Amino acid sequence: MDTDVLVIGTGVAACSAALELAKKGHQITMVTKGDRPEESNTYHAQGGIIYKGEKDRPELLVKDIQEAGAGATWSPAAQILAQEGPQLVEDILIKKVQVPFNVNEEGKLDLTEEAAHSMRRIIHSDDFTGKAIETSLIQHVSKIPQITILTNHVAIDLITPEHHSLDPLAIYPPTSCLGAYVFNARDRKATKITAAVTILATGGLGQAFLHTTNPDGATGDGFAMAYRAGAKLINMEYVQFHPTTLFHKDAKRFLISESVRGEGAVLKTPKGKTFMEKYHPLGSLAPRDVVARAIHEEMVEHGYKYVLLDLASYMDSEAVRRRFPMIYETCLQYGIDMTKEPIPVVPAVHFSCGGVKVDLWGKTSINRLFAVGEVSCTGLHGANRLASTSLLEGLVWGNRAARWIHQNWEEYIKEIPPFPITDWIDTGMEEPDPALIKQDLINLRHIMWNYVGLVRTRKRLKRAITDLRHLWREVEDFYKYAKLHQKLLELRNGIQTGLIITRAAQRNHTSRGCHFRKD
Ligand code: SIN
Repeated sequence: MDTDVLVIGTGVAACSAALELAKKGHQITMVTKGDRPEESNTYHAQGGIIYKGEKDRPELLVKDIQEAGAGATWSPAAQILAQEGPQLVEDILIKKVQVPFNVNEEGKLDLTEEAAHSMRRIIHSDDFTGKAIETSLIQHVSKIPQITILTNHVAIDLITPEHHSLDPLAIYPPTSCLGAYVFNARDRKATKITAAVTILATGGLGQAFLHTTNPDGATGDGFAMAYRAGAKLINMEYVQFHPTTLFHKDAKRFLISESVRGEGAVLKTPKGKTFMEKYHPLGSLAPRDVVARAIHEEMVEHGYKYVLLDLASYMDSEAVRRRFPMIYETCLQYGIDMTKEPIPVVPAVHFSCGGVKVDLWGKTSINRLFAVGEVSCTGLHGANRLASTSLLEGLVWGNRAARWIHQNWEEYIKEIPPFPITDWIDTGMEEPDPALIKQDLINLRHIMWNYVGLVRTRKRLKRAITDLRHLWREVEDFYKYAKLHQKLLELRNGIQTGLIITRAAQRNHTSRGCHFRKD
């Protein structure tokens, strides 16, 4: 084996696993397709991470998670998060890597609120919590000698002896994962990295849709790789929309954190009228799926291009600038002064509540393959995720996966499947045409946005399947003959992930949480 444990990804879940494994003496290789190890979904998170409120108890957090989850939350997962989460935040983020969380005048951690939480229990670093957490984690992880981080390395496929050995007997034992084929985007060479255990921590899939809060790298790679290897995926129809992203012709869908509403902002129509009271007793602080659909409904019914998020009327200017410095500066770049006027907002794809099915230790249906963070589905989020649970889920399950791997290490080492694994064989000769990649990506994003978006129908989903299958055939053909290229790998993964989501949405006729069937 080239390494004990291969971790694909470098976000909070990946770092949490690597820290715990390194502490127990294992050798870890982390690969990321980013130029910098920090580049991950985690880095772009704004709002915060759940810690504990003043009179908080695990049962209260579990209740909030379940209520947001629309009856589909796996309660053992919610209980683990509520019981283990706050201690890990304290041990790893506060004490070990010393994330600079905000403190109040009394020197205590500043607690903020977000939608559907019954109390203030979220800690934050201004409005760039993900960046503060990720930077602190990577600084720490980079100094640990047993951890190697390879940047600009794109995982192509998971290695499974049944698919990647020429030994005819390799197809008989249960499927197991022995690492991954990885493409070095700098020298454009692919290699195999073998490992006794592999942890998938590749983040989300928002880039398969036209409008998303996710960074460019969120192209669904982990979902597609796991699917090709034969892993079980669940709840893929539950794609969460964030209700409030900046609407401006020159801006990508920049996230306007839910903590803006947590601190008092109110949603209004472009005419300045509140509307959320028509949809939910919690008004602007209703669960995300409810708020996103309410905005959509208002936009469709009245022909609005956006709705307004008004903080200026409820918080004084100095406090707004102090609490939301990044959001304030970004809006100002687009000519919107949120201390004086409301922000035009629309919903955009934000988070996959479903993913690679894992148990309470992050184990997938494939031996030696773990999945943690957004790419996994622990069942915690049910049909709709509660705000600020995602960073915590990554922290908790990264740690739990590492603990399981360490406790069972002797078995992992003793029983490595004996089949020789083939080297990566480059078959493509043609330079991929960037015009084709670009147009195919545009097609994918439009199909997913228009037919598999906030409101779904049988006809739209059927059309999406037809169009995605066509796109898939074209791109597979293209992929077979083209030289490896990061954009092509991402496009292929995005289409495959789009198909997985659409099939799941087609099979599920019940509207629940983020999955809304108009028919
Ligand atoms: C936000 O700040 O609104 C995003 C937080 C989250 O997705 O949990």
